[in-house]
Amino acid sequence: MPNVPRQPELALKRAASRAARPGPTEPREAQPFLKWAGGKSQLLAQFEPFFPTTIRSYAEPFVGGGAVFFHLKARFPRMRAALHDNNPELINCYTVVRDEVPALMKRLDEHLAEFRARGETYYYETRRLHRPAGPVERAARMIFLNKTCYNGLWRVNGKGEFNVPIGSYRPDRVSLYDPANLVAASAALQNLELKVQDFRETINKAEKGDFLYIDPPYYPLSRTANFTSYTQEDFGPKEQAELTKCVVEAAKRGVLIMLSNSDTPETRDLYSHLTVDSVQARRAVNCDGAKRGRISELVVLTYPKPHAR
Ligand SMILES: C[S@@+](CC[C@H](N)C(=O)[O-])C[C@H]1O[C@@H](n2cnc3c(N)ncnc32)[C@H](O)[C@@H]1O
Repeated sequence: MPNVPRQPELALKRAASRAARPGPTEPREAQPFLKWAGGKSQLLAQFEPFFPTTIRSYAEPFVGGGAVFFHLKARFPRMRAALHDNNPELINCYTVVRDEVPALMKRLDEHLAEFRARGETYYYETRRLHRPAGPVERAARMIFLNKTCYNGLWRVNGKGEFNVPIGSYRPDRVSLYDPANLVAASAALQNLELKVQDFRETINKAEKGDFLYIDPPYYPLSRTANFTSYTQEDFGPKEQAELTKCVVEAAKRGVLIMLSNSDTPETRDLYSHLTVDSVQARRAVNCDGAKRGRISELVVLTYPKPHAR
């Protein structure tokens, strides 16, 4: 945890000046402020040759942790952007980071103090509060649970209730946020559209020249590896096929799309008529320890791969 002063206003002022003038050790681009299954931070260097050389209008239908957005926003600061996902808690979190950082930091400091004092009991008390009142309360709860739960998963039951057990962190070592990064994330999110929306609507409304990075819940590698329950609605073969259809239709309208998915015979078949390439990922979420390691992931493009930079 970086040195966090007691008053969030002070933390905010210091963080704002650091974010504005990053020193040699400060991050120059915002990083995701949530851990997210399938997060793309580790793949950004391999993605670089696939991104268009300029981007004026950007959208993500499955924003998750937003690693690709934050990276591209630092490269193309003037691009217009729309970030969508069908997880209302997630979109609320982005909205609060955009609009109410001081209040959010204050609540996160309070969560951390309680967690340090009461550990597991406090985690499960907070987990049970399924519908906290107000956007800041909801966002602070989500970030607190995300940073203290098992593996940073966000998984809900049939009633939409978060049900991940506590992770094995030492409460005195837990960090809920980095002030400079939260301020940088807030700056990156200004003036863009954040919406709870189904992927079909986002892709179908995209226009010629827009660039979309599409990172859906992945097609399972095997029958047992089916972690697709980010939200109540499952994402099965029917949704995968509908996604392909939306992508193909959008490509016909001149929308530029880069899409990730697992590298399986089924996904290669779904995208066989588009440009298909691959990258090597470290597997982050897998209960089966034997399956951790490097695996191939598909990159699908609806435009010719730009020349190597
Ligand atoms: C693989 S994650 C995205 C990972 C993200 N790109 C990152 O870098 O962290 C997939 C996301 O799709 C969202 N999702 C699932 N079904 C959806 C749907 N029908 N429409 C929109 N979003 C959906 C989930 O809430 C989840 O955040």
